[in-house]
Amino acid sequence: MKLKLADGREIPVEPHKVRIVQKSYLVPIEERLRAIREGGYNTFLLRTRDIFMDMLTDSGTNAMSDNQLASMMVSDDAYAGSESFYKLEDAVKDVFGFEYCLPVHQGRAAEHLISKLFVKPGDVVPMNYHFTTTKAHFETFGGKILEIFTDEALNTSSQEPFKGNLDLDKFADTIKKYGADKVAFVRMEATTNLIGGQPFSLSNLKAVKKMAAENGIPLVVDGSLISENAYLIKMREKEYKDSSILEIIREIMSLADIMYLSGRKSCSVRGGMIATSNKDHFDRIMPCLPVYEGFLTYGGMSTKEIEAMAVGIREMTELEVAGSSVDMIEYFVNRLDERGIPVVTPPGGLACHVDASRFVPHIPQLDYPAGSLTAAIYLTSGIRSMERGTVSMERDGDGNDVPSDLELARLAVPRRVYTMSHVEYAVDRLEWLYNHRDLVGGLEFTHEPPVLRFFFGKLRPKGEDWGLKLVEAFKSDFGSDA
Ligand SMILES: Cc1ncc(COP(=O)(O)O)c(C=O)c1O
Repeated sequence: MKLKLADGREIPVEPHKVRIVQKSYLVPIEERLRAIREGGYNTFLLRTRDIFMDMLTDSGTNAMSDNQLASMMVSDDAYAGSESFYKLEDAVKDVFGFEYCLPVHQGRAAEHLISKLFVKPGDVVPMNYHFTTTKAHFETFGGKILEIFTDEALNTSSQEPFKGNLDLDKFADTIKKYGADKVAFVRMEATTNLIGGQPFSLSNLKAVKKMAAENGIPLVVDGSLISENAYLIKMREKEYKDSSILEIIREIMSLADIMYLSGRKSCSVRGGMIATSNKDHFDRIMPCLPVYEGFLTYGGMSTKEIEAMAVGIREMTELEVAGSSVDMIEYFVNRLDERGIPVVTPPGGLACHVDASRFVPHIPQLDYPAGSLTAAIYLTSGIRSMERGTVSMERDGDGNDVPSDLELARLAVPRRVYTMSHVEYAVDRLEWLYNHRDLVGGLEFTHEPPVLRFFFGKLRPKGEDWGLKLVEAFKSDFGSDA
């Protein structure tokens, strides 16, 4: 919720009160240096005890509502026929408008089943942008992903409101080039995670659907951040300014042949699902559920989470809920932008994305600038962010690094977890780091897993130990900090 102050400023105000808290610790900077070294300069390998603000992701880390927690107490643990599932099914029908709902243990499980059933070797899957697990699954089953975003999508300093749109000319060319029968489906991600949480517009989605339907190509929507995308449509797409979040979500979903999501985001639980109104699709997917996930009425999720998901789906239609992270992200991005710190604009859903290629332009791309920046942010603030750049890419068939389209340090803003003073602190430390950016150097791998290397890979400063130099400069301004 945004409110106007007497001095004319508009600030995000939390539309809830805090009733349960979890302690967090700002450990001294020397401890942070130890922790990041032990974790191989990879923020995935840090422990909670060493983290002050965890902005790694919003996945499974949103604060749940009182009603979600209460619902967990009345869950029905029946292996088959759980009443909790029927509440989820009702919420999926009422909010998303789908007939069938197949719970799975999390978003990538949905991607696994969809790839297994719909992606054949030689197929292509056009999309507005890939997500790491999506790409891994589609390629495992022999598909090739084609990112056919608009020209503006990779411009990190932009005013374009819908950088998550699909380029329709490129979509038409793709169909012509490969033939519609080779296009497994077209995938639209609601706010493109890896390029700044940027939304698609409903007019673009409608045009994608029209072209897909004319060519017999199914439209798959990744709805992990569906309510945030809907909120951004309401804010930015004139035609929808008077529509409710529920109406916008319903309209998006009505265009999808299949929708899947990670329940860890907009739904504020831990789980996932596939939903469709197409009986043939349901009949194909359903038999895989007990093999890979669990019986239809729990699909690998705890029934407590299923109860909370049913509530979360209804709550995400509230304007204050859909907008709670987005408003704070906008404030965060604008505060950095006005100080000249390079961030992805316009602000999107999910996170404040700092543009490492402009923040530390002296670091060559194959020395992993976004990886260095996430480590440096942790050292100087105790804030854990996530590398979304070349470290998050896979090597090509010849073992060469594949430079990422963008080099971003992603500071996720999980719903209702952090307050304005946290954001002000983050802005202050990022500004200090920006003023000392020349001290930050590149990284090189010391341990590199073959797939999704960003999760467990370990790195170290390339050349001199710039981590130590950064710590020394920081201490001369702030002491040990804790
Ligand atoms: C857009 C998108 N799709 C799929 C996934 C995978 O979901 P999960 O982490 O629940 O497996 C994520 C996770 O962050 C995501 O952001």
